[in-house]
Amino acid sequence: MTDFTNAKNPDVGSRPIRKAVFPVAGLGTRFLPATKAMPKEMLTVVDRPVIQHVVDEARAAGIEHFVFVTGRNKGVIEDHFDSQFELEHTLKNRGKMKELDALLADLPGPGQTSFTRQQAPLGLGHAVWCAREIVGDEPFALLLPDMLHHGPTPCLADMIEAHRAHGGNHIAVAPVPDDQTHQYGIVGVEDVKAKVSRITSMVEKPPKGTAPSNLHITGRYILEPGIFALLEKQERGAGGEIQLTDAMLELAKSRPFFATRFDGAIYDCGSKTGFLAANVAYAMDRPDIAPILREDIQKILAS
Ligand code: G1P
Repeated sequence: MTDFTNAKNPDVGSRPIRKAVFPVAGLGTRFLPATKAMPKEMLTVVDRPVIQHVVDEARAAGIEHFVFVTGRNKGVIEDHFDSQFELEHTLKNRGKMKELDALLADLPGPGQTSFTRQQAPLGLGHAVWCAREIVGDEPFALLLPDMLHHGPTPCLADMIEAHRAHGGNHIAVAPVPDDQTHQYGIVGVEDVKAKVSRITSMVEKPPKGTAPSNLHITGRYILEPGIFALLEKQERGAGGEIQLTDAMLELAKSRPFFATRFDGAIYDCGSKTGFLAANVAYAMDRPDIAPILREDIQKILAS
């Protein structure tokens, strides 16, 4: 049992969060046949791949280095974040400067991306551990690409602000209906209503009726580098996988964990309905698309 009260004082104002890890090795079986030859992270929400939306969130929060933990058949993700000389040249020759500028604005700078491979599907904890050499000895952000956080401010930006104020480790949370708590990591906190609150317990996919609260882990984390040594010796947990939550529980014995509550909408793009809803929600932000789409949806719903 983890004693959360033992955590030492956080080193407030500790080193800035410069690096973000994106575990993108998952097979995407829930989306077959779409994901037979294409990574699930490249499915588009409106006209941007899911992974691009998540990288956008990290960039907006000031992240400078993007670490992708990939796997077999994921090479196209690396291509997506590279420049495309022929395409850029053609757009320029055809005077399509708006399209060209948009492509170049999305491009990470030289040396700002790293790619490493998770060679076996041993779970989220193992995927994060695969990034240890690239992250090194500094706190880092972790973003699960399936989960799109759609709100007025980027979720990670709020967390980085909380990290600046409190130091330690941070997890984004949001309420879920009580009958869904068994599908997620769940945290107990000192103050359920507060934007930032100290975490007092944590459990991965609690059996129905045993969750300490209805606040689920939404897939955004700021973690101290001490997590890597714990992941290295972490035994397989739920589902026979190396679970990140188990290693976080170990870290919480000596280091503080905080929850940052996210009040926007969260779309699980690993599920078909979540993915479709994300497409509608993000399209409604677009003045070039929203009016026409709204009419189309109304017609579909009325028929
Ligand atoms: C993972 C985490 C879980 C979290 C969830 C969010 O679970 O282990 O704590 O709530 O992501 O999507 P997974 O979806 O990999 O089963």
